[in-house]
Amino acid sequence: MSKNIIRLSAPAKLNLFLHITGRREDGYHTLQSVMVFVNTGDELKLSPHDSLYIDIEGPFAEPLDKPQDNLVYKAAQLLAAQYKIPARAKIILTKNLPVASGIGGGSSDAAATLKGLIKLWNLPDDALLLQKLALQLGADVPACLYKKPVWAEGIGEKLTALPDMPDLHFVLVNPLVPTPTPLVFQQFGSRFSTPLQFSGRRKSTAEWIADLKIYRNDLTDAASAITPVIRDVLAALGRTKGCLLHRLSGSGATCFGIYSTAEDSKAAARALEKSHPDWWVTAADMLK
Ligand code: C5P
Repeated sequence: MSKNIIRLSAPAKLNLFLHITGRREDGYHTLQSVMVFVNTGDELKLSPHDSLYIDIEGPFAEPLDKPQDNLVYKAAQLLAAQYKIPARAKIILTKNLPVASGIGGGSSDAAATLKGLIKLWNLPDDALLLQKLALQLGADVPACLYKKPVWAEGIGEKLTALPDMPDLHFVLVNPLVPTPTPLVFQQFGSRFSTPLQFSGRRKSTAEWIADLKIYRNDLTDAASAITPVIRDVLAALGRTKGCLLHRLSGSGATCFGIYSTAEDSKAAARALEKSHPDWWVTAADMLK
């Protein structure tokens, strides 16, 4: 039986910077961002079943009151509808990431579901179709299919791989205050950034940090207005030893610090866990 179980990781996403450059007529915002993924995240187990059965467990499991609102459910239904087949699978989702937290947990779960069901249902591995379905599920879902560093434009669907990034080490901190993305965009208004010319050329960690310091997360003020403790999280990260840069990810409330070694990031995580036991803190390395 166990050989029929497909296991997938749904890693957390970080926006190393996030510039909002405009708003489309459909209300979605255009952006420019470097998105990376780290070795911490949710986990999914998929196996054959005679109906669509989804169970959520783990530290951030929430009861599935309305399964139709869950991105895993939506992804399964969307893929089944595309191929006109019944959506039959047992999906166990282990939620290790805080919800509504700016690190793409739900998007990554949806991307993993699409990939896993392609295998489980023996469907063709059609990358273009998968990208299209992913975008229907959310702006971050196409990048979450890739799980490696990308330069993202459009609403997050125009992706260019960044294969030459140096090893980066992170601490992720979430104050456990859900911060809904639509609210943050509403608060943001229309102080748009001018689009920038971005070069994905090979750069050292020091060069990356110097560039990232010029860029920003444009949603920081808006997210902090909704969830003021974000300012405290950023300040606490900035005080940790070896922190090269600290910033909000996505629409928050998760913030991250960048460190040049895993020893530094682990030590910083330990210090933050001790000083703020009520925050979610984890050290993680970038996936390449
Ligand atoms: O695409 P996703 O479901 O993650 O987005 C959630 C909400 O965030 C959207 O309904 C929209 O209000 C806002 N959003 C946006 N522009 C983006 C991404 C998200 O306006 N590029």
